[in-house]
Amino acid sequence: MENQIRIKFPASRSGSYIIRIDKGLDPGRLMAAVCPADRYAVITDSNVRELHGKKLAWSLSKAGLAHDFFEFPAGEKNKNLENFGSLSEKMLIKGFDRGSAVIAFGGGVPGDLAGFIAGSFMRGIPFIQVPTTLLAMCDSSVGGKVAVDLKSGKNSSGLFYQPKAVLIDTDFLDTLSETEFNNGMFEVIKHGVILDEKYFRFIEENVTGITGRDPAILRDLISGSCRIKAAIVMKDEKESGLRKVLNFGHTVGHGLEGLSHYRTRHGFAVAAGMTIEAQASVQTNLLQPEDLNRIKALLVRFGMKFPTYNPVKLMDHIIKDKKNTRSQGSLRIPLVLPVRIGRTVIRNFSPEEILRFLKLPELFEGSE
Ligand SMILES: NC(=O)c1ccc[n+]([C@@H]2O[C@H](COP(=O)([O-])OP(=O)(O)OC[C@H]3O[C@@H](n4cnc5c(N)ncnc54)[C@H](O)[C@@H]3O)[C@@H](O)[C@H]2O)c1
Repeated sequence: MENQIRIKFPASRSGSYIIRIDKGLDPGRLMAAVCPADRYAVITDSNVRELHGKKLAWSLSKAGLAHDFFEFPAGEKNKNLENFGSLSEKMLIKGFDRGSAVIAFGGGVPGDLAGFIAGSFMRGIPFIQVPTTLLAMCDSSVGGKVAVDLKSGKNSSGLFYQPKAVLIDTDFLDTLSETEFNNGMFEVIKHGVILDEKYFRFIEENVTGITGRDPAILRDLISGSCRIKAAIVMKDEKESGLRKVLNFGHTVGHGLEGLSHYRTRHGFAVAAGMTIEAQASVQTNLLQPEDLNRIKALLVRFGMKFPTYNPVKLMDHIIKDKKNTRSQGSLRIPLVLPVRIGRTVIRNFSPEEILRFLKLPELFEGSE
């Protein structure tokens, strides 16, 4: 599979950029070409700085690129306005200006936070994504959604702000834990379910190579996923239509995350959400049970465990979802439903209908 993908937004000011995927990629050399700047602010978290900071610093220095690191403590709870303010302030004090660029270095948390800083610093300076988790490589670094969490809502303050490039070195995955790896795999599987049966089959046929982190298979896996996400965001940069299919599994998944007080990792919650939403699709006579079984089987191979939950309490979280709408006073909850692997439709349901889906006995068959 090709290791370079070009994202183009002909109708907007976002222009175009490349996603480059390679084992042992040299980001400094590429950066000088795709995003020239006087200085680079590397925004990263404490774990990534410790594990891989020297390697990136070496690549930047070798390319003659002036840079400084700006670090914050790892973890979702630090993707907040406090760090947005303090990191921007530090950049200003160090003399970063309109001629500078930001490098978002790490998983989705540094990616979203650094992108949000770049989008507002001096009213916007360029940025490059150098993702280091599977989730960030296959999902969050592509598409230009950047944000921080507010106290009462995840990703509630954010922008659409496209990077100048996404530079992916698969070697970073060598240090990623199995849990974090699988957390990303669930979003990867989602890409296959929503848009590409062939890609879904590629994952089914290469589970051993993927879990064994075979470099050639990882490269094809990541480029396949980026290609699917790129195809979607190019058609719908700002989520006014098609991009909504990326929310498969997320209506119930976000509810499960909330119910667990965010102790359940996002990907694992989405995996359970995809199972429930696919079961709802079978119930609605849209999806064949065999396709549901294929989806479930693949999720289980990457460690999905079906959660126990109280359906009424889960519903309390689902009805607060920001994607819900009102029609003639009644709440309508959208679900992305697969009709077969590679194709979905969006349907709106009442809270009562969703509650019935959450209680389906078939969901709990065979779960621990
Ligand atoms: N912008 C988008 O379109 C989009 C899409 C999906 C998710 N997200 C966001 O992404 C975030 C989740 O991303 P994530 O799962 O990458 O979280 P994360 O950035 O917190 O990374 C998970 C953990 O892995 C560590 N880590 C990162 N790279 C590592 C490496 N190579 N080796 C070892 N450890 C490493 C991190 O320090 C952290 O502890 C959420 O905030 C979510 O809202 C954004």
